[in-house]
Amino acid sequence: MNKLLLAVTTATVMIASPVFAGDAEAGKAKSAMCAACHGAAGISAIPMYPNLAGQKEAYLAKQLKDFKSGTRNDPTMKGMVMALSETDIADLAAYYANLK
Ligand code: HEC
Repeated sequence: MNKLLLAVTTATVMIASPVFAGDAEAGKAKSAMCAACHGAAGISAIPMYPNLAGQKEAYLAKQLKDFKSGTRNDPTMKGMVMALSETDIADLAAYYANLK
């Protein structure tokens, strides 16, 4: 009985604390303006706009930081990321990485 309780508690804790650094739920709330180009579920309907769903979290975060710093140069995305904080970037990366 105690073992079962421990297993249930452990499972709950694991669900409640995502493995990723960013907060996917918070990222979802922040993704509204991204959806216009990258699709509501991170799958773009427009050939020139990349899918983000299921992409690696660390990769997504790096691209967003690179757009912001200008290391990766895209005028469209630069305009998108300028207002994002480090936390926003982590949350958005977690959100899109967790989509299928
Ligand atoms: C106006 C359309 C538009 C909007 C809105 C937009 N993006 Fe993008 N995004 C693009 C385009 C175009 C590219 C491809 C840029 C390139 O060719 O380098 C891109 C690329 C990216 C990439 C790199 C993908 C890869 O595979 O390398 C990420 C990550 C990304 N966008 C995230 C976001 C996030 C997060 C938001 C919301 C804050 C957002 N985008 C809003 C058009 C948009």
